[in-house]
Amino acid sequence: MSISIGEIIGEGNFRTTYAVKDKDLCLKKHKKYVTKIIYGLKIDFRSNFFIFLKFGVSDLNVMEYKAIKKMPAELTPYIPSDIEFIKGEGLVMGRAKDVDGTYSEMMANFGPIHNKAFWEHIERMIKIFEDNNIYPSDILYKGNNLIVKKVSDEEWIPIIIDFKRMNMGYDLFSRFEFGSKKTFYRRLKRFKEAFKPKL
Ligand SMILES: Nc1ncnc2c1ncn2[C@@H]1O[C@H](COP(=O)(O)OP(=O)(O)O)[C@@H](O)[C@H]1O
Ligand SMILES: [Mg+2]
Repeated sequence: MSISIGEIIGEGNFRTTYAVKDKDLCLKKHKKYVTKIIYGLKIDFRSNFFIFLKFGVSDLNVMEYKAIKKMPAELTPYIPSDIEFIKGEGLVMGRAKDVDGTYSEMMANFGPIHNKAFWEHIERMIKIFEDNNIYPSDILYKGNNLIVKKVSDEEWIPIIIDFKRMNMGYDLFSRFEFGSKKTFYRRLKRFKEAFKPKL
């Protein structure tokens, strides 16, 4: 697939996401530098070096591509379409659109989400995570890694756009897994406090 890169549509700590021209797709690329604040000092690390130290891989996009391919089938409604890794470019993903034809927005741009179906989807998503021993530590974190797709006025659907910390439960008995489970439930609680309207 040949792609032509357009404007920047988002940025995380490690990657910049670009629109793909004339297509409802985007492309994630490593940033050149990752900025960390250590003892009050802002330090730029070469991102390849930093990513290797932190994640033990040379390419986050490859890691994420593999993680997505391993996700349980039931999670498909919550995963972007058209996932493809292009060597030398990065990770391609579909961009979700709302019923009005505009691109769906990041959850972080919303306040409390007044949509009953959305919260039913979140509960379903959490059940799928639990059934499959997946305890992602930053999906439910500040709404940075979820998109809210408005399928209709009545139904909004959460779409996961960042899979790099999908902790699969391979090491069931390790403290690491237990730790990530604890983090998951702590963040889930804060996530609901921030986004779920009080009844
Ligand atoms: N499929 C997508 N659709 C729309 N925006 C996206 C998509 N994927 C990523 N983004 C945007 O790009 C940003 C960075 O991507 P992300 O995977 O979170 O990078 P990082 O690994 O640095 O956290 C996201 O916070 C979001 O704003
Ligand atoms: Mg992110």
